[in-house]
Amino acid sequence: MSQEAFIDLQNISVTYLSRTLAPVSALKDFNLTVKEGEFLTIIGPSGCGKSTLLHILAGLQRPSQGEVYIEGERIETPRPDKVAMVFQEYTLFPWRTVLGNVEVGLEFKGISKQERRERALEKIKLVGLQGFETRYPHELSGGMKQRVAIARALTVDPEILLMDEPFGALDEQTRLVLGEELMRIWEETRKTIIFVTHSLSEAVYLSDRIVVMTARPGRIKEVLKVDFPHPRRPEIMTTDAFEDLRIQLLRNLYDESKKAVLQENKA
Ligand SMILES: Nc1ncnc2c1ncn2[C@@H]1O[C@H](COP(=O)(O)OP(=O)(O)OP(=O)(O)O)[C@@H](O)[C@H]1O
Ligand SMILES: [Mg+2]
Repeated sequence: MSQEAFIDLQNISVTYLSRTLAPVSALKDFNLTVKEGEFLTIIGPSGCGKSTLLHILAGLQRPSQGEVYIEGERIETPRPDKVAMVFQEYTLFPWRTVLGNVEVGLEFKGISKQERRERALEKIKLVGLQGFETRYPHELSGGMKQRVAIARALTVDPEILLMDEPFGALDEQTRLVLGEELMRIWEETRKTIIFVTHSLSEAVYLSDRIVVMTARPGRIKEVLKVDFPHPRRPEIMTTDAFEDLRIQLLRNLYDESKKAVLQENKA
């Protein structure tokens, strides 16, 4: 298998049909390959099909047309051993502690209690939550809940981590801190990450490549490469090179966002 096509999305189209409303073409002829260990960000106007794309990658949804391959294997059903997902909304089990939430994926895999505990504690440490193992979700801040969700996703040791606006519900400062932590985790684990965000700075800071999508039906408008070296720390956000890329991204996105707003007004 070529390293280039660790993930291969071929001619993906998705049309949502409804009995009462006109069909919605969410994605059209979407083609993308992702390299192993790459941090790829998808950015695009609201409603352009980003979440739809991640659901298809996770095998949670079938495209109307086209195929998804991971390591050459066609994906048609969920593959929790290969792909883990972190969502924007907090998705923790309220009746379970931090440790219980992080262990849950391993329980489904039938892994022994002791190994579960060891692996969960290691990931809790990785996301900076030591000391909070016995807390319940209602005792945590939004940022802490998302750290638990990231630890839970990493505990099953997936090859691919899909993140759908994971910091979208957080305030800007917490977002910055979590972005920096995610960067550190990626530098340490080199997982393949596909990350969706509406934040231009977050996209430029975190990514190896940024895919800019058009308004619905979502296609690729532009792919930007980000070459800042690693370890990457937030100080780069103050450099001219960072600002130039952010502005380039803004220019690419702005027209598409305008189109998306007009679409919404018509709907
Ligand atoms: N289950 C569904 N049934 C019908 N239409 C849907 C369904 N899910 C999504 N859509 C429509 O498909 C389009 C793409 O939706 P999607 O959620 O993938 O967009 P998105 O890029 O993630 O948007 P956002 O940035 O707001 O999260 C939207 O117009 C949405 O209304
Ligand atoms: Mg979405």
